[in-house]
Amino acid sequence: MLLAYDDNGPGPVVVLLHGFPLDRTMWEAQQSTVGATYRLITPDLRGHGQSAAPEGIYTMDDMAEDVIELLNSLGLAEPLVVGGLSMGGYVALALAVRYPQRLRGLMLMDTRATADSAEAAQGREEMAQRVLTANSAEPVVKAMLPKLFCQATRLNRPNVVARMEERMMRTPPRAVAGALRGMAVRPDRTADLPRIHVPTLVMVGAEDAITPPAESRTMAQALPSARIVEIPDAGHLAPLENPAAANAAMLNFLDSLP
Ligand code: MLT
Repeated sequence: MLLAYDDNGPGPVVVLLHGFPLDRTMWEAQQSTVGATYRLITPDLRGHGQSAAPEGIYTMDDMAEDVIELLNSLGLAEPLVVGGLSMGGYVALALAVRYPQRLRGLMLMDTRATADSAEAAQGREEMAQRVLTANSAEPVVKAMLPKLFCQATRLNRPNVVARMEERMMRTPPRAVAGALRGMAVRPDRTADLPRIHVPTLVMVGAEDAITPPAESRTMAQALPSARIVEIPDAGHLAPLENPAAANAAMLNFLDSLP
């Protein structure tokens, strides 16, 4: 399906995939900096932001296919950089496995390669049902908000927290349920990591409570060509919580690519 997206900036293409249940506006802090030298393509994944929200399960593979369809519609056949945060990272990993020839670089931010445990998958199904019954994203937003940000963001940048809450609340219930169910059935990509040879930046907020730094370190070790950067004063939304450090890490990586 065709996705809503922004497409700004000069230079080599960098595609950035947002987390759940956010939208492409979570990359606003990258637009003026990374976007000064790179062409940033930031889609709204299906069901999120301004993209359509079909019924059904939103698998990571389906979402990866949506991104390929967008790139094809833009005539972008050459290898480019794809970065994703959390759920966007699951989609980026699906892309790296399914379309290795389309990538010249990969950025995995606040994400993981492993699948859900049976308990986590069950928790997602229960949450999907609560969201559908409430006909509102509120149950998932209430559950996620306390874990999304580090303490410094919560104390010093309440406007960022409020903005993200407002965007999460706008995600339609069937999209929240579709994405939760899709994440619950995502495959374990651990065995694929040694086969992903493209240069990779693994970035994680030092205080990420949802996908903790230890998991990122394990993932980076299994990737043949990865570097890892821990972003201080950041939780699960590192590029938004500490944009100066996150942008520096991204630019450093992007500028190093052949
Ligand atoms: C996200 O931020 O995209 C989600 O927390 C990912 C997840 O729930 O696994």
